[in-house]
Amino acid sequence: MILAANFKTNHTRKSTKEYIERLNNFLNSKNPDTDIFIFPPFTALDNYKSKATIGVQNAYPAEKGSFTGEIGLEQLNEFNIKTIIIGHSERRHILGENQEFIAKKFQFFKENNFTIFYCIGETIEVRESSKELIFSYLDMQLEGIDLDYENLIIAYEPVWAIGTGKSAKYEDIKEVLEFLRSKTKAPLLYGGSVKPSNIKEIISISNCDGALIGTASWNVDSFCEMVDLSTKN
Ligand code: PGA
Repeated sequence: MILAANFKTNHTRKSTKEYIERLNNFLNSKNPDTDIFIFPPFTALDNYKSKATIGVQNAYPAEKGSFTGEIGLEQLNEFNIKTIIIGHSERRHILGENQEFIAKKFQFFKENNFTIFYCIGETIEVRESSKELIFSYLDMQLEGIDLDYENLIIAYEPVWAIGTGKSAKYEDIKEVLEFLRSKTKAPLLYGGSVKPSNIKEIISISNCDGALIGTASWNVDSFCEMVDLSTKN
């Protein structure tokens, strides 16, 4: 089982340090068999010692150079970061990243052996159209992506379920995960309003190997509760 916390534009350097300390205490006392990943903001990166793996929410596909406002491989290496989220809906829809650029980013970080959390998910308009359109939309988001890459983890995150408190229906999640499973052996996560009250049902869906969590992960107690719930039978 994989549980990942995406802090997005939340937490400071100070609060991230406190969060990781509390998470470490929890992981050391419980020793859960869940793989934990934390994605803090860039300003909070450090050489943390933890059973959790620290990754980044984004980076530019270059070692270094003139890319104002971005960070590259050289900056990530300083903190031993080898894990990245690519294709998150907020980068696609708010920051305007297109599939061509996302695929380029994927290729670069694949060549550098990163563990890649690759996100896909349909908009509400697509969800309310037809099954055919939903799957062709998701297929488009897989263009240029090596689905056999050994360090790939895919997160299915319907755009309309992210940060809204309203997660997708279990049947719909199951159907999309089945579709993805027919294409790849990579672990498959669900993301979109995962919280302590629904995590057990979500991770029990067939082909679901874990969750990528935003809002409900920002509070360390809530995240630890979900780790706990994901490891109990
Ligand atoms: P959410 O975000 O848990 O707040 O819905 C999930 C995500 O964007 O990864």
